[in-house]
Amino acid sequence: MQFTRRSFIKATGAGVFLPAIIGRAWAAEGGVPLPIPEVMDLGSGTMGELTAQLGSSQMLQGASTETAGYSQAYSGPVIRVKRGETARAKLGNTIAEPISVHWHGLHIEGHQDGGPHSPVNPNEVIDAALDIDQPAATLWYHSHIMDRTGAHVWYGLAGMLLVDDPDAADNGLPSTYGEDDLPLVVQDRIFGSNGELVYEPRGPSQMMGYRGNEILVNGAIRPEASVPAGMVRLRILNGSNARIYHFGFEDGRTFMQVGADGGLLPSPTPMNTLTLSPAERAEIIVDFSDGAAVRMLSGPDNNSPMGGMGGGMGRMGGMMASPQSDANGVFEVMRFAVNSSLTAKVSTLASTIAGAPVPDFGAPVRRRSFQLNMMGGGGGMMRMMGGGHGMSINGESMEMSVINEQVALGETEIWEITGEEMLHPFHVHGTSFQVLSNGGRAVDPAQTGLKDVVLVDGKAEILVRFDRTADAATPYMYHCHILEHEDLGMMGQFTVA
Ligand code: C2O
Ligand code: CU
Ligand code: CU
Repeated sequence: MQFTRRSFIKATGAGVFLPAIIGRAWAAEGGVPLPIPEVMDLGSGTMGELTAQLGSSQMLQGASTETAGYSQAYSGPVIRVKRGETARAKLGNTIAEPISVHWHGLHIEGHQDGGPHSPVNPNEVIDAALDIDQPAATLWYHSHIMDRTGAHVWYGLAGMLLVDDPDAADNGLPSTYGEDDLPLVVQDRIFGSNGELVYEPRGPSQMMGYRGNEILVNGAIRPEASVPAGMVRLRILNGSNARIYHFGFEDGRTFMQVGADGGLLPSPTPMNTLTLSPAERAEIIVDFSDGAAVRMLSGPDNNSPMGGMGGGMGRMGGMMASPQSDANGVFEVMRFAVNSSLTAKVSTLASTIAGAPVPDFGAPVRRRSFQLNMMGGGGGMMRMMGGGHGMSINGESMEMSVINEQVALGETEIWEITGEEMLHPFHVHGTSFQVLSNGGRAVDPAQTGLKDVVLVDGKAEILVRFDRTADAATPYMYHCHILEHEDLGMMGQFTVA
């Protein structure tokens, strides 16, 4: 069965907010073994090959699903790069429309960044060379084409990227990939009656961000991981288009957060609920030494516009796809089963994490404001309903030809981001930042670490500095990482020189 160009490119159906799942010919069973993505190690001069392609995936029982991926049917390999080296890869594209490979979280020059100005066109192959110099971190990569990021990521053009720092290798954390160090790419999806992925953002599901009713981890529905009876490191990426997760375990156990978007935390932070908005990452350590099987759960995502829409948004909230849940809206993400034939290599966690980055931004010399608007200037809502770019930042919808900001290389600034109507995960290319305040409260940097996404709660202030350049031909982006908001124009471009 061919993956049709139409299903990838354009929403099908008309006038419905949710697809009909009546009469479906498949079952969405959980519990298959957690897929562990292959590693593509781009250290030591290896030339990697990453080719965007369409493929067929076995996600459901009784149906196959047409998907997209980088050198595989869905998603892509876990790419590992090393600090101090240049990572090289040939980027190809066998899909009938331009894609890109944006290296989300890498501190690299604008021309290496893989944003909307750096497409890989159909049948083209381009050489990527990425100069890696930043702390060890869990990042990711995804397609980032103007107007198309939401669809590309939904169908599978996204994978995990790990930065290793050879000078800070001995951090005492579990680090045997696939055994006690597991990548978890969490995504919600909607499947149609023939098992196909359905991506039809419009009306409320576009306004609120497109969410799914099945949870995939590494491309499998609610899978089960086999873990040793000891400390296990989970590198969690919220690779969803719009859903905010509140992760926890069914027995309420405490776990330790040891890493954030941009690197490790100075000391482990205990918690039993971890909130991750789209594009955010966290590394956590979970102690499985009691040998008990346990499920990872998440709570409801209530992120929706609060006012200004004549009170209709409550009803719209009910129209969003959401996973089957209990009365409190709690649903299963995946399961963990302890396997006694696996050996736990780490059984205790030190109170500080060696090699964790120490932010040194210096004193800010400038303040910049960004107002995230759910509507564009001049009747944006009408434009949005008509399929145009109805969302904006500081009243300007993203235009490929407009540079919105010019930032000076190496100068520290405070960026003040104000969001309206709902929570917006604001992302900045080219660097990591420190969150100073959010929702009117000061933020403890020891708990949040270096970030490249902040879930703006009303107003957030971040301390930011760029140490790489981006010219007007390949500028950096800042945008809301609810991908439907980004594709509607809640994005801007800036140069660094
Ligand atoms: Cu995750 Cu502009 O990207
Ligand atoms: Cu990015
Ligand atoms: Cu947004």
